[in-house]
Amino acid sequence: MTEQVSPAHAIHGVVSVPGDKSISHRYAMLASIAEGDSQIFNYSTGADCQSTLACMEALGIGHTAGEQDGRRTLTIHGKGAAGLSAASGILDAGNSGSTIRMLSGILAAQPFTTKITGDESLVKRPMRRIMTPLAQMNAHIEATGGDFPPLTIHGSKLNAIDYPLPVASAQVKSCVLLAALYAEGETVVREPIVTRDHTELALRELGADITMEPRLVRLKGSAKLKGKALFVPGDLSSAAFFLVAALVAREADLIITNVGLNPTRTALLDVLRGMGANIKLLHIEEANGELVGNLQIQTSRIRGGTIEGATTAAVIDEIPVLSVLGAVSEEGLVVRNASELRVKETDRIETIAENLRRMQVTVNTTPDGLEIPGRQQLRAAQIQSRGDHRIAMAFAVAALAADGPCMIEDSEAASVSFPEFYTTLSNIAR
Ligand code: S3P
Repeated sequence: MTEQVSPAHAIHGVVSVPGDKSISHRYAMLASIAEGDSQIFNYSTGADCQSTLACMEALGIGHTAGEQDGRRTLTIHGKGAAGLSAASGILDAGNSGSTIRMLSGILAAQPFTTKITGDESLVKRPMRRIMTPLAQMNAHIEATGGDFPPLTIHGSKLNAIDYPLPVASAQVKSCVLLAALYAEGETVVREPIVTRDHTELALRELGADITMEPRLVRLKGSAKLKGKALFVPGDLSSAAFFLVAALVAREADLIITNVGLNPTRTALLDVLRGMGANIKLLHIEEANGELVGNLQIQTSRIRGGTIEGATTAAVIDEIPVLSVLGAVSEEGLVVRNASELRVKETDRIETIAENLRRMQVTVNTTPDGLEIPGRQQLRAAQIQSRGDHRIAMAFAVAALAADGPCMIEDSEAASVSFPEFYTTLSNIAR
């Protein structure tokens, strides 16, 4: 599909975003291997999280969609740690790296063999990063060229490990922790820098024996998880598109409700404030160990800046939309230490640069980043999302600041994380 997005001079209103994608995956997987029902509020509507549900269903775990007090609910009928059964066919993780990487940790410990694959983007994404620690735990996994899906996972009895992550990755950390649930003894995972800790918080909520220290997690195996009611906060990475929409507009006053504010995710807000954004946090509460609150963003003067080191890892999913902001900022944006962007849903260093250039923006790419001078006029263009949800949405936001309507090709990619994106955007843009 092609979506036309027209320029806007103002962003106003009150909006919500889908449930957090990262948290939804974790709740669905953990609730499946917990005992009894878990009622999940605000589960992500994105296709990636539906892929996780479909995989769990193929492994024998049912779910029921419902409504309570006008809120959508999803009840997962968990069957306990030993409750999964062999799938009759190949599991399909679709576009979802989180699904294949995290679920592999559970599958490695099952008394059966599973084959899991995904779409044409996912089969190009590296899996060795999970295969290495899982092999140390005694898992038996085959991959195309030793690195790529499809993965054939022969379940086996796992042992605990002490694993220092060579690359900061919450997906790899989570994969090891999920496998560790089935291992005898205590597993330790060490991180070079802090990554999102949703898995640890969810494990603690569901009754696992887990200890969290700075950049270190200890988890004892063979604990029983108990199902419970779980609330998924709105996805800050989805809210990022509207925050930047407000910042590229001449005039803005926008409230985004019920957004997840876990401190391992809020580096985005620090980066935006560092660039000059006027953002307020309102009504902060806690739900299942996760912070949630409303964000208010108003008209701001954006200076620009440099994103590097640990900050890059903490805002890695937001770099496409931050790059758009960089081009219209006063001083531009430099992104360093972002080689991980090259192995996301697309090579995002190239897809960001390609689309900025389509809008006649000057940009320089480096092996691990981007240099984008500021004060540039974005020109109306045909945007190629290359099927990448965050590229489609980032450049729909860029279109708001262009000198004429833009056409977003393969715009439906947005539904991977945010099916309601274009409607919500058109509701707030004037
Ligand atoms: C995610 C972790 C990050 C992030 C991805 C979601 C997660 O990936 O980019 O969108 O849910 O754990 P890495 O673990 O590859 O850094």
